[in-house]
Amino acid sequence: MLRRPRKFLHDPAVYKDPMVFNPDRFMGPNPEMHPAEYFFDFGRRVCPGTHLADVSVWINVAKSIAGFQVSPTIGPDGKPIIPSVETVGDVIARPKPFVCNVKPRTPHIPKIVAEYLATHDA
Ligand code: HEM
Repeated sequence: MLRRPRKFLHDPAVYKDPMVFNPDRFMGPNPEMHPAEYFFDFGRRVCPGTHLADVSVWINVAKSIAGFQVSPTIGPDGKPIIPSVETVGDVIARPKPFVCNVKPRTPHIPKIVAEYLATHDA
């Protein structure tokens, strides 16, 4: 039996407008349930890699944001194109292909990335 954490985490009985990207929902005096309650599963099926996965995702997102400015592409009408939250895949869902701008925050960032790629397997 395979549980579907994604189903739990998009339950409109638990989350207001579950498909809307709104990190504010987890803040303030009455936050909605934190996704970590479910996304690593729970009970005897809980993921033994929870802490490694959690810190790995955190450090990779932090490093990416520190090095790059990510912003929406501007459409022909002059308005930003905001990617949808639609996904592909089932058990392991990933975002549908989308466009955005990724710009190094400082000129030395591309050099750091090139050095890393030259010394590590892709
Ligand atoms: C963001 C990253 C991760 C997510 C979202 C995740 C999520 C999950 C979930 C939902 C399950 C339960 C599947 C089921 O119902 O049987 C699971 C199981 C498992 N995970 Fe992870 N996991 C992640 C990363 C990792 C890492 C980094 C490791 C190891 C270093 C790991 C090792 C395992 C193992 C061995 C199981 C099977 C546990 C068992 O059934 O005894 N996972 N994971």
